[in-house]
Amino acid sequence: MMDTTLDLPVLPLAQPEPPTTPTNATHTVYVETYGCQMNVNDSEIVLGVLNTNGYAPVDSADDADVILLNTCAIRDNAERKIHERLKALDHLRNGKRQRVVGVLGCMAERLRSSMLDTGLVDIVVGPDEYRKVPELVEAALHGSHGIAVKLSRVETYDDIVPLRTEGIAAWVSIMRGCDKFCTFCVVPFTRGRERSRPLQSIVDECKGLWDSGFREVSLLGQNVNSYVDEASNYDFADLLEACARAVPQLRIRYTTSHPQDMSDKLIDTMAAYDNICKYIHLPVQSGSDRILQLMNRTYSVDHYMKRIERIREAMPLCALSTDIIAGFCTETEEDHQATLDVMRAVKYDGAYMFAYSPRENTKAWKMGDDVPDEVKQRRLQEIIALQNDVSRELNAAETGRLHSVLVEGPSKRNSAEWKGRTDTNKTVIWQHVADDGGVGDYVVGDVVQVRITRSTSATLFGSLEV
Ligand code: 5AD
Ligand code: SF4
Repeated sequence: MMDTTLDLPVLPLAQPEPPTTPTNATHTVYVETYGCQMNVNDSEIVLGVLNTNGYAPVDSADDADVILLNTCAIRDNAERKIHERLKALDHLRNGKRQRVVGVLGCMAERLRSSMLDTGLVDIVVGPDEYRKVPELVEAALHGSHGIAVKLSRVETYDDIVPLRTEGIAAWVSIMRGCDKFCTFCVVPFTRGRERSRPLQSIVDECKGLWDSGFREVSLLGQNVNSYVDEASNYDFADLLEACARAVPQLRIRYTTSHPQDMSDKLIDTMAAYDNICKYIHLPVQSGSDRILQLMNRTYSVDHYMKRIERIREAMPLCALSTDIIAGFCTETEEDHQATLDVMRAVKYDGAYMFAYSPRENTKAWKMGDDVPDEVKQRRLQEIIALQNDVSRELNAAETGRLHSVLVEGPSKRNSAEWKGRTDTNKTVIWQHVADDGGVGDYVVGDVVQVRITRSTSATLFGSLEV
């Protein structure tokens, strides 16, 4: 999962309709999102709830009556960043205009009333209490601080229409919570028990998204392999197939899979449908069986490698990415080398790489944090350097290949160049405005054919083929 800061809302690129401003809008709201994609979709859910209650979204804190930070608690530095941001926002909160500052998400759930004690926030709302945001905001606008952090066994926000403001790719949460209890992870504590949305409502959401101009969906869950439609017993592979059949031109992605539960049925379903993207995020975390056991990951390196083999048999060009933690408790140099070996053996297209950060109340917290910081950092740098080499090598091998690319719009650096993504989730850039001033005959949301001509470790470059 990405650990990037995403500021919402972002200007829509072209297609889907811009967010509606309720005619009776009395207040403006700005939501800033940290952490994983699930949080991005949660922010859209919160904006959806607030929008139907008369709040109009704006795209900067300066313009907002209500400023909400949707937070991440996965590592200590994520929380530190949010504390800093709250301090930076305090001048707005104490300015002439009356404003409410709120903390949502995993950090709200973890730190609860101590967030109010910082004196920097007015409301604190955990991931299962977003229906209460309007009433808490309303009370805060009248001067009372509020907190709602109960976790639920049933809440899925299935009936809430998220207020989506970005591009042509939509996030769709299919389940919430996690029951895996990896020993290093706070998510089972901050997001509670696993629960799934009904299959039909997810299929209907995908259809609706296509009709309103979206061309790609990412089905989200902390561990999608545990998805189950309670009424019918349909599993995640069934859901994927139902979505792929219902909207045959919609590109469908998903994240995140747990290696223990990556079934043959799921792999074969992916292989059977052209509109299911050939890209799998399969976090390995470590290449040492001893460390995997301490992490309670419930699989061995051998099992993991056999899953990779099975994926490659079924889909030879399927891209793979992973998450890796450097310096988990008791990790030796030999364990670290084993992680590098797995990376060399798999050759991931991409990786999210982290230094281990002990989290209070997790099982690993009690195991101690005995790998010195400088050793963790050195190992992390070795992991990152290896991954850069592998990404560069794999991308170089793309030269000459033809990709179907979903057009996203102008690239950030140069508006004469446009960008999009391959089925395998790689960013591609091509010349949109020709030397004679002519422009390509396509719009955002179309799929074009691009022949790759060169690459870096992060990006492919190519030319359009007509
Ligand atoms: N320290 C470092 N990385 C962590 N992750 C989860 N918890 C921790 C932690 N305590 C990483 C894992 C997970 C990703 C979302 O974040 O690699 O897959
Ligand atoms: Fe955390 Fe493990 Fe659940 Fe992923 S599967 S959210 S790492 S507990």
